[in-house]
Parts: sequence; structure tokens; C-alpha cells
Amino acid sequence: MPQRLRVRSKRPKVFFTHNKMSATSSPSSPKAPSNSTTRTPSTPSEVFDDILSSAQPPPTYSQQTWNPSNPYFPHYHNQNMSTTATTPPESLIPPTPALFTTRPILQDTLKTLSSKEQLSTAEICMKYLSNPSDPFPILSRREHIAFLKSGVLGVQNGKLREEMVALDASRPWIIYWCLQGLVSLGVDVGKYRERVISSLQPLQNESGGFGGGNGQVSHVTASYAAVLALAVVGRGEDGDEEYGEALGIVDRRAMFRWLHEIKDWESGGFRVCVGGEEDVRGVYCALVILALLGLPTSGNLTQGTKEYLGRCQTYEGGFGATPNGNEAHGGYAFCTLAGLCILGEPAVVLRKYLDMDRAISWLSARQYAPEGGFSGRTNKLVDGCYSTWVGGCWALIEAGINGPQDENEEKLGEKEVGGLRDKPRKGPDYYHSNYILLGLASTQNYFYYTSSPIPLSSPPPSPNRGSGDPPLPLTAPFLWRYSPRIPSNTPNVAEAIVKDMPAWPDDVTEEDLLPGQEVESDRLKVHHPIFNIPFERAGEIEAWWKGKVGF
Ligand code: FPP
Ligand code: ZN
Repeated sequence: MPQRLRVRSKRPKVFFTHNKMSATSSPSSPKAPSNSTTRTPSTPSEVFDDILSSAQPPPTYSQQTWNPSNPYFPHYHNQNMSTTATTPPESLIPPTPALFTTRPILQDTLKTLSSKEQLSTAEICMKYLSNPSDPFPILSRREHIAFLKSGVLGVQNGKLREEMVALDASRPWIIYWCLQGLVSLGVDVGKYRERVISSLQPLQNESGGFGGGNGQVSHVTASYAAVLALAVVGRGEDGDEEYGEALGIVDRRAMFRWLHEIKDWESGGFRVCVGGEEDVRGVYCALVILALLGLPTSGNLTQGTKEYLGRCQTYEGGFGATPNGNEAHGGYAFCTLAGLCILGEPAVVLRKYLDMDRAISWLSARQYAPEGGFSGRTNKLVDGCYSTWVGGCWALIEAGINGPQDENEEKLGEKEVGGLRDKPRKGPDYYHSNYILLGLASTQNYFYYTSSPIPLSSPPPSPNRGSGDPPLPLTAPFLWRYSPRIPSNTPNVAEAIVKDMPAWPDDVTEEDLLPGQEVESDRLKVHHPIFNIPFERAGEIEAWWKGKVGF
């Protein structure tokens, strides 16, 4: 019996009517430079002086607006817990820093397509951050679910839109993005299990691995996405024709052989396909496949790999695609950090192979103000997908700093359409939808590394591994935990956030939502910080491969 959803007609009850802290607070647009009518700046230092002289002083505390629909602000109930707006006690109001409510002080005087796009993005973001009459929109679950569902089921006659032909070599990716996005939104994707298996099975090659499309050679990123998609749909129900782990369709022995073929024994890295280019994507994808399929690393498959990853750190502190000086990029940063965290305990491997201080400095510089989002690289624009590629690095960095923790001692620390996108004014797609949802979920949880396995809801299947079986050293990614709290320097704030955010029911389906109904929460299902699959699946999958003898 599906759980009844708490519904609302327009605005969620937990979000109060708008309070303005001060009549003087409003989004400020910088004054024109005082001397702009008398002199056109010609040297960089004149430009700089003009910009500085035109800057507004930061608003004082009492001028800050309280944006009550920001779900990360605590909600204040009056005594009988009614949802009428009450003014929060002043001491607990987290002000939106002026950095996020005013235009950037430094603006590029050279106008390009990029600089214009950056400014227009900033304007749109500032509007939400600083104007209480235009507050944060709430996650449009119904629309996002419909959008992602179209990627699994097609839009017409079971077919994807025509433009998707360009992604013909990325079929497993489309399936993974949509499934994981749906899971984040609370949808049970078990119903797509057989469909997913029958779409992915033909992409598997006898020589090992998956191609991106039918008849295509095996590629490590396609194989990674196929493994993730199978991991996400999980086990069938008793009585299903396809009972058992969906990952069971993978020919593990052939995959193992193929991974040996793409391994570069000299550099320690992995190529993306036989004879293909070698980069840190190859390494991360190969390691995830090894870990989730429980493949042994005997035979030196991970030989030299930590050192390879360490060499990808650049002079900026970020991480390039390959060792020795490629431009640092957020996508490669996640691959490097997550790759190392598959190979060992974060506090050991990250500290040993990386310059953590410089990594933290570069990662911090990825967040721009006032947009609030992350850019992928120096001097480029913010983009929603870096919520995962850059935002997802922070859990790993934190675990590298904090070391293993016990479970009890974690530090607290327009017309609406579905789908999420790179930035305002762009169209939505499945890739950004998934990685933005994962990024949002990262902000809602504190991930930490511990030293005991993830507890299982049901006992592991038998038989257990024989003592003569090869060692399975890639256990580090299975030792993570999460806490649905946001670490904060203001503990009361962190506590309040979670308490007031109702969880999305487990068994919700899009059919459960009636027209005009929405669930009162932006809270998402939690994912695994290294694999980017539902968190609990990691423990179940580990139990599945531990129950296997040999291949
Ligand atoms: C630049 O695109 C993009 C890259 C240089 C690579 C991005 C890599 C990833 C997103 C990670 C891939 C991960 C796996 C697991 C395969 P751009 O120039 O369009 O974007 P930008 O301006 O934001 O840099
Ligand atoms: Zn993007």
C-alpha cells in the first residue's frame, strides 16, 4: 500500500510567508562609477580604481534579507507548531553573505560571449538569493521525474528524441543518468530492471566489457556506466524471471581479462579501450568496475595506479586528465580523488599521494559569487554538473582530513518544466539532471569513512568465499557511512535543517502525485559518495560478490 504523501497546493507548509528583515534590504545594483561620465578608463589600474570606487559597502547584518524559502535555513515554528510565519530569533538568522547578493566587484572589461553569459547567469542567481518576493523555487519533483522517465521509456513509441542519435555511443550513460536521477527523487526503479538488462546485455562483448552502442567495441566509460546502471536497478523480487543481482549478467571473467588488456603496466594508468587514449577517467572507471564486481586485484592490476593518480595533480592544485601538466578540471579532480579512495583509506592515500592544501585551495576557488555554483576550471563559467564533479570532492577531502570515524562520533558539523540544466537559460538534459541532483544530495548529508563494513538489512547470501579464493583488496569504498546532517559551525542550525525537512517516502512513484500536488521537501535519497549509486546498494553489492566463489 503506497504511503500517503503529504501534499500541498502551492507552497510547502514549512516555508513561511515572506519576512523582510529590513525595508532597506533589496537587491542592489552597483552605482555607475562616479567619474564614468567624465573619463573613460584606459589602463587596467584605472579600470580597477573605477570598479572599486563604484562598489557598494557590504550590507550590515540588519540589512540582510531573510529568505524563508531557502530550504537550508532553519524553520521556526511557533509554540503550537503551526506553520504560520514567525520572525526567527535574530541571533539564529544566517544572513546571505553580500557576496551572493551583489554583482561581482571585478568584471571583465573585455566583452565576450562568455562574459555576457556569466553576467546574465549572475543576475538570475542574485534574484533568487536576495529578493524575498522571488524566493528559491522548490524542486519540481513531478516534472523532473517525468523528464528522466522519458530517458528510460522514450518519448514516443518507446523512442528517444531524434537529437539523441548523437549519444548513440553513450547508451549505458543515458540509462544510468536517468535511473540514478529517478532514484534520487525517490522513485523505485526496480520496475525497469528487465528493460535495463535487455538493453545492456547486447552491448556486452564476448571479449569483455561493454560498448557504448550495439556492435561497438568495449570502452571503459561505457562499461562503467553499464555496471552502475545494473547496480542501481539491483536485485529482482523472489519469483521474478530474472531473480538475483542485475550485475549477475556481467561476464566477470571476460571483464577481468579485458581490464588487463587496457592496463598500462608502465605508467600505472588505464586506457579507455584497447589501443585508445589513457587518462584518469580510465583509471576511475576501471577501479569502480573492479570494486563493484568484486574482482581480485591480484596480478598487479592496480600496480602503480596510486602514483599515477598522484601525478595528475597540477601546479594549480587541481587535477588534469593525465600526469604531468594537463589543465586542471573538476571532472578529473573527482576521478582522481575517488580513484584514490577506492584504493585505500582516504586519510592515508589522499595525504600520501596529494598536496591536500593546494587541492583544497583549488577546489575552493571553483565556487563563484554571486552565482554560488561551481566552475570546472580556472576562468570558465559555473555549470550545474560540477555540483557533483567538484561538490562531490568535498566528502572525500573531509574524510581525508578527519580520518576514520566511529558512527557515534561524526562531526556535525519561467513555466516550470522538468529536468535540470547547466545554467539558467539552457535546456535540461539527463546528464545534468542526474549530477545536479547528486550534488544537491551531497549538501544534505555528511559522508565519512569508518573502519567497519556497511551494515546489511538482510544477511549476506551464502556460500561465503572460500579461504583459497584470491584476496579482494578493494574494500575501502565499502567502509563509508553518511549522516543526514549538514556539518556546520552553527550546530543548532544544522540540527534544525534536517528536522524540518520531511523525507521523501521510499515507495513513491510518479503515479502517486495527483495534479497540483507536491511533496513538501527538497530532500533527496542519499547516494554513495564514490560510486554515485544509491548508498545502500554498495553494501548489498559487496555482500553479493562476497557470496561468490571465484568467477
Ligand atoms: C570540459 O568541457 C570537460 C572536460 C575537460 C572533461 C570533463 C570530465 C568529466 C565531467 C568527468 C568524467 C567522468 C567520468 C567518470 C567519465 P567544457 O569545455 O564544455 O566545459 P567547461 O567550460 O566547464 O570546462
Ligand atoms: Zn555541465
